[in-house]
Amino acid sequence: MNTYITTPIYYVNALPHLGHAYTTIVTDTYSRFRRLCGHDVRFQTGTDEHGEKIAQAAEAEGVSPKEYADRISRAFREAWPPLAVTPDNFIRTTDPEHIKTVQAILTRVHDQGDIYFSEYAGLYCRGCERFLTEKELVDGNCPDHQKPPTEIAEQNYFFRMSSYQDWLVDHIKTNPEFITPERYRNEVLSFLSEPLEDLCISRPTSRLTWGIPLPFDDNFVTYVWFDALINYLTGIGYPDGPDFERYWSVAEHVIAKDILKPHAIYWPTMLKAMGVEPYKRLHVHGYWNVDETKMSKSIGNVIRPGDLIEQFGADTVRYFVLREMSFGLDASFSGDAIIERQNSDLANDLGNLFSRSLAMIKKYGNGEIPEPSDNEQTEADQEIIEALAQMVDLYRSHMDDFLFNRALREVWKVIGLLNRYIVTNAPWELAKKDDKKERLMTVLYNLAEALRVITLVLRPVMPTAAARMAEALGLAAELERATLETAARWGLTRPGTMIGTGAQLFPRLDKKKLRSQSQEKGKQARQSTRKETAKTVETEGLITFDQFGKMELLVGRITAAEKIAKADKLLKLTVAVPEERTIVAGLAKHYSPGELVDRLVLIVANLKPAKLMGVESRGMVLAARETDADGNERLVLATVSDNVAPGSRVA
Ligand code: MSP
Repeated sequence: MNTYITTPIYYVNALPHLGHAYTTIVTDTYSRFRRLCGHDVRFQTGTDEHGEKIAQAAEAEGVSPKEYADRISRAFREAWPPLAVTPDNFIRTTDPEHIKTVQAILTRVHDQGDIYFSEYAGLYCRGCERFLTEKELVDGNCPDHQKPPTEIAEQNYFFRMSSYQDWLVDHIKTNPEFITPERYRNEVLSFLSEPLEDLCISRPTSRLTWGIPLPFDDNFVTYVWFDALINYLTGIGYPDGPDFERYWSVAEHVIAKDILKPHAIYWPTMLKAMGVEPYKRLHVHGYWNVDETKMSKSIGNVIRPGDLIEQFGADTVRYFVLREMSFGLDASFSGDAIIERQNSDLANDLGNLFSRSLAMIKKYGNGEIPEPSDNEQTEADQEIIEALAQMVDLYRSHMDDFLFNRALREVWKVIGLLNRYIVTNAPWELAKKDDKKERLMTVLYNLAEALRVITLVLRPVMPTAAARMAEALGLAAELERATLETAARWGLTRPGTMIGTGAQLFPRLDKKKLRSQSQEKGKQARQSTRKETAKTVETEGLITFDQFGKMELLVGRITAAEKIAKADKLLKLTVAVPEERTIVAGLAKHYSPGELVDRLVLIVANLKPAKLMGVESRGMVLAARETDADGNERLVLATVSDNVAPGSRVA
């Protein structure tokens, strides 16, 4: 049996964060699970490197797009091994093989008449980099940029997506597993209940050169999706490589809800047009927020995988995200929640079961897994044997369905049962009585055997901890080769196996200490960013007058301020510039709403709107951030030195 599983290829205009890490951990865990089931697995991730956003980011840094893409792509590639993520292939859309295949596909689809040239007149928003429909406008403005879009007529190439709409609806309806969880399948079907428009797949080179040239018209480049989605094929050698034959028919993609439409609508219709069968399953997950707030650079709450690994280690991070998020729904990250999971689930439940069992085998069994005695089997033993078998069944089906949190819950139910088994059987009491020796050995054997099963099922989730557990049980060599099928069979551990030396698996963490350490780290990070910024300003990081001019800095007057329920840092401000707009600011710890009303402030007015705790924020209020020697922060509002009319431009 084969498995082909992919992550999205990530844009190289931002560094990896918790969101990217989650998708990649899920995909790695699933690929390890499938390997445990005996599958031949191919796991692919990579980076998406063409397009306007990347060209602009490179320009802002004064480097070529390729140089820029090389640097960020490397950061993604290097982010994964420390999380014990081991892809088989890392694809880049700037790889020559990828470019060649994208062009071959474009030629074919164009030749068969599914790509046509047409003039498109429409309302183009430069901020969004796309045409808007009349319906989307609010008071004639782009809802995201509060500016009227420009009317432009542009000639472009279009993919005849609409001709495949009926086929797609039918395919989704007859294949319930095609898009899961069900809520996303319903969302796609509801979208498809309206007529589908054709897909614009090009940009004129007068506007964008950083893309793959259309093979039939070099005045145009392909525009992102017709380039990016094809990575799933080029990465396995489409059209004639042996890996394409081997893996395409079982392809499964993992994405978050933000890119549902391209994956559930553009991609299957593109495949149909190319005469390639559709992928098998699309798994769609929700979004990670942080402390109930959207993760964003401007709030400064972006979680970096490297920081988490440093504090908790890869196993805890992997366990936490898989246990905490119900696949398909949004979840919220918090430092306290991960500490609690480590202390209760890992250190207490699993760690104690493991260390107590091994310590007793060492003490009462001379460090050897003892021989169980058939005469000494009790009902309690039967109960754990059955519970383990049932757990392995449920684990298998939940993992197959991407219900990682449920799979782990089943494992932890058995861990709880085993901890109770130790207490009720009290090996230390049995050890005091000569006639209980056989019973004692049976209990110890059962514990070792149960731990073998638990080690196996935890391997896809926590590979490093599982390897240490296997080593401590003296079963490293056996478990490395073992499949899940052996987890379902009781009694495979050989009596007489010498156990190894097992160190503590997961230490208990001290919340207070960790909090103060991370504050200290934050302070150091801020200082070193300042140093780095200073260095680049001296050398290459200068911005042009033009770039500065793109920023709309205005004077505003705060006309109302209120707290936002459940967010201890955020205030909802109404700011007149002079028309009123809502801005969410992280000032609640520094100003009371009352002291803000009537103040003149400086705002960045053309920042992309963002939703914070359900409130749409249109802009950013500027403040100076001061950090004292203890790492305490103070925010002080930036303002003007005399009374000026709201709406005045700061330049
Ligand atoms: N380049 C496109 C994808 C092309 S695939 C053919 C792209 N890149 S992206 O860098 O923006 O990555 C989006 C993906 O990153 C999401 O679908 C998800 O996998 C992950 N996440 C980014 N932020 C996330 C959260 N806050 N929470 C969970 N995952 C999110 O779109």
